[in-house]
Amino acid sequence: MTIHIGAKHGQIAETVLMPGDPYRAKWAAENFLDGAELVNQIRGMLGFTGMWKGNRVTIQGSGMGMPSLSIYVNELIRDHNAQTLIRIGSCGAMQAHVSIRDIIIAMTASTITSPSSGILREVNFAPCADWGLLSAAVKSAAGKGSKTHVGGIYSSDVFYAERPDLDEQMVRHGILGVEMEAAELYTLAARHRRRALAVLTVSDHLQTGEALPSEDREKTFGDMVEIALEAAFA
Ligand code: HPA
Repeated sequence: MTIHIGAKHGQIAETVLMPGDPYRAKWAAENFLDGAELVNQIRGMLGFTGMWKGNRVTIQGSGMGMPSLSIYVNELIRDHNAQTLIRIGSCGAMQAHVSIRDIIIAMTASTITSPSSGILREVNFAPCADWGLLSAAVKSAAGKGSKTHVGGIYSSDVFYAERPDLDEQMVRHGILGVEMEAAELYTLAARHRRRALAVLTVSDHLQTGEALPSEDREKTFGDMVEIALEAAFA
């Protein structure tokens, strides 16, 4: 048991999927895991451990934003022996060729700041995905219905951004989408020599203003969970 994760020693699997939303963790555990057991409910940040095709998996909510994710990932890595951590979440599309419902597999995650900025100081560290997970996810995604993009994303500290000039530079530099967690996940994984990846569903489009209707979210979310699980155990 750690400050924010109530699981007892050994109740967390070496492979952890991390949606931002704790209710998505519950939904994914109910729909994809056998014998899922609730292992955390501190602050309502639900976590479940169960089996997927004979492999032990934990699905633990991260909350929104890098400071929240950082708390859970630090405890998962340092105290609960997590080895493979895959974010499954949503993002806003930043390129015209990326559409609502598409999947983005994040090769890199740029930031202005992250909780690790205080450690890295003047270094513009380049947070990047684990290559083995990334390539396995790309193979898995090829067999699904969703269109998939692989490339750089932007991890922002704000959902309600007020810097159109910044978005413009991201678009100009080919950033596929914006979310709020992956850069810190990749940085912590690098620091502790763990494997990390972010698989994202496009839920809204910054250029067109479109948003995914809530009834459509579940199906696309399902593809993302399968890609993450198949990549983890490839
Ligand atoms: N901005 C930041 N995070 C997000 C967005 C967005 O537009 N959509 C989903 N997560």
